[in-house]
Amino acid sequence: MGIQRFSALTLLLLLTGSGLLAQEAGPMQIPAPQTGGGLPLMQALGLRKSTRQFSADTIPVQVLSNLLWAACGVNRPGENKRTAPSARNMQEVHVYVSMEKGLFLYDAPSHSLIPVLSDDIRAATGMQDFVAQAPLNLVYVADVNTDSTVSEADRMFYPATDTGFISQNVYLFCASEGLATVVRGMVNRPALAARMGLRPDQRIILAQSVGTFAK
Ligand SMILES: Cc1cc2nc3c(=O)[nH]c(=O)nc-3n(C[C@H](O)[C@H](O)[C@H](O)COP(=O)(O)O)c2cc1C
Repeated sequence: MGIQRFSALTLLLLLTGSGLLAQEAGPMQIPAPQTGGGLPLMQALGLRKSTRQFSADTIPVQVLSNLLWAACGVNRPGENKRTAPSARNMQEVHVYVSMEKGLFLYDAPSHSLIPVLSDDIRAATGMQDFVAQAPLNLVYVADVNTDSTVSEADRMFYPATDTGFISQNVYLFCASEGLATVVRGMVNRPALAARMGLRPDQRIILAQSVGTFAK
């Protein structure tokens, strides 16, 4: 209830002028990631930190593309493997992107965004005031593992660790790009899951705000 899903027409209208390429009502291609450049790793590590104040400036779509690729994009296309490791290569953690213009799911193999909701649900992605202002809130959602060869403990442990790798990639990308970020466990998970329309077999692990530093 109250969830406004995208139609082809609203999608085209919403994204007009946003810089995103609304080619069709399905997944929206984003520009190819720029995988050269950036700060040397040791400098990025030296700058990595959590920040809880953001300006309202939106993130350019090319930067969003680069950020998502850094997070968990495909870096070895022949093997469909990612910038972040995952236990048993399950790739079970998915990145949802909450922006003013709606909620999108990052599809790494096609490097595209799948529209989920046209609502601005940023405020619902956390319990701290800055969350509503941050232009981008990533929500890390894991598919619940049903493989009987995975122990009950590892069903909790693997998604948590796999999310940690993705989050750190985002931290380092932000450090390299001069962006502000903080990973967040303070999330009202049941409320957010309902707002996102998640299935029972999907589990919210963490969220992460990204933006430019408050001026
Ligand atoms: C699993 C996890 C959950 C976190 N949850 C929150 C959170 O809900 N809100 C927040 O402001 N910071 C959160 N943080 C950020 C930590 O507070 C932060 O990393 C810590 O204070 C160290 O600061 P630094 O990242 O600048 O080194 C979380 C960090 C981790 C690893």
